[in-house]
Amino acid sequence: MKATALAHPNLALVKYWGKRDDALILPHQSSLSLTLSPLSVRTSVAFGVGESDAVELNGYVAKGSERDRVIRVLDTVRAEAKGQKLGPARMVSRGDFPASAGLASSAAGFAALAVAARAAAGLPADPRAASLLARLGSGSACRSVQGGLCEWMRGERPDGSDSYAVQRFDEKHWPELRMVVAIVSRDEKEVKSRDGMKNAVETSPYYAAWTKDAEAEVVRARDYIARRDLQALGEMCERNAWRMHATSLAADPPLCYLMPATLALIHSLREQRKKGVPVWFTLDAGPNPCILTDAAHEVAAEAVARACGATEVVRCVPGGDARLLAEHLF
Ligand code: PMV
Repeated sequence: MKATALAHPNLALVKYWGKRDDALILPHQSSLSLTLSPLSVRTSVAFGVGESDAVELNGYVAKGSERDRVIRVLDTVRAEAKGQKLGPARMVSRGDFPASAGLASSAAGFAALAVAARAAAGLPADPRAASLLARLGSGSACRSVQGGLCEWMRGERPDGSDSYAVQRFDEKHWPELRMVVAIVSRDEKEVKSRDGMKNAVETSPYYAAWTKDAEAEVVRARDYIARRDLQALGEMCERNAWRMHATSLAADPPLCYLMPATLALIHSLREQRKKGVPVWFTLDAGPNPCILTDAAHEVAAEAVARACGATEVVRCVPGGDARLLAEHLF
């Protein structure tokens, strides 16, 4: 009745920014992401322990909405394994990178939770079911169940049963691809992604334009990845990140996740490209830019990030699937 899983975070190259259904976490658009190794989150789940559910995230007892989201995933598993009377659960999760800094820690966390909770309940390994389950915790988590490059299909059905992620290319398709994560701030972001995107959906005059091109953008990204065309992918990646942030800059109240060091790095990358260095940024709902490049230029990308004030830099390679581990956290 106990299982432990490890999952990597993912970073969207074509972003999800806005829900058409807040309760079921159904997106307005499809998105496409790269799974990032070596960053990872481990999560252990056991059913049938204690009086009530106990949830521990990175050494703290989870409260409020964080706890509620975990319980929702556990409840869904309990409902699916209904014959079994699984009982209260204990869940312990630990990540090796900063939470809430725009680095998709929740994506890796909920993907690991989904895989571990299903295994602890004796449900069969099933990437589609795990992706649907992870989505209920955090939308982008549905893309961390598998490795390589995954696409979250927005789906059409009101019940969300066709809104999950599939792997389009595994981690061996483009082994030289690199994502250099530049940490310019470890502060918790003030506006969580779910609030930021809601604000954009409800108030940004640019929101309709943002969703209009999203499906075509995913198809273009797939094509660039199939051809391993770093320049085309990099240019698209920057454009997509700018457009996502533009929806929020134009929202009411306006929301800006960029910090001075974020902008300094973005400008430096442009200068580097003029010298022929293939480096492009992407940016989630936080100030820490991630640099898309290749193996031959990851050291140069790290140097640029440090020169612009990054206090920590993590050079990531395409990561693999979420997987079960034999060692448990409790
Ligand atoms: O799934 P959430 O609530 O962590 O939202 C993720 C939103 C972005 O990271 C900004 C974009 C994305 O597609 O991952």
